[in-house]
Amino acid sequence: MKIIIINGPNLNLLGKRENNIYGNQSFTEFFADLQDKYPEVELRHFQSNIEGELIDKLQEVGFDYDGIILNTAAYTHTSVGISDAVRAITTPVVEVHISNTFSREEFRHKSYVAPHAKGVIVGFGLQSYELALMSFFE
Ligand code: DQA
Repeated sequence: MKIIIINGPNLNLLGKRENNIYGNQSFTEFFADLQDKYPEVELRHFQSNIEGELIDKLQEVGFDYDGIILNTAAYTHTSVGISDAVRAITTPVVEVHISNTFSREEFRHKSYVAPHAKGVIVGFGLQSYELALMSFFE
């Protein structure tokens, strides 16, 4: 099973960024642990701060991989381009957020991705990614 985690802007700063909201662990460290825990999964990770690069990656993997775990971070709340890319591809997408976006500012309550996602996992810290991964198991 081939699964990719795609992370959007500022998620490269996990562990350094607003630790009270996003925790103390870097994504690199978390990802290595996740790979160790699920050796049967071909698990990849891509991060970009650039909207077009996220769209390029969705197009590249979106007809081939078995699943996409997608945290488009701030672009979730703004990007029609990413929304259209998620609509266009055939690989199922699970949207994730580390923080509970619904308990935060109003502008974070809107997701342009969610209507086209298989499901959404929100607010469980980095564990949101693992819960999303588990959703792809039969
Ligand atoms: C986030 C929530 C977004 O609102 C925010 O812009 C992020 C991270 C999360 O994972 O909690 O950068 O996607």
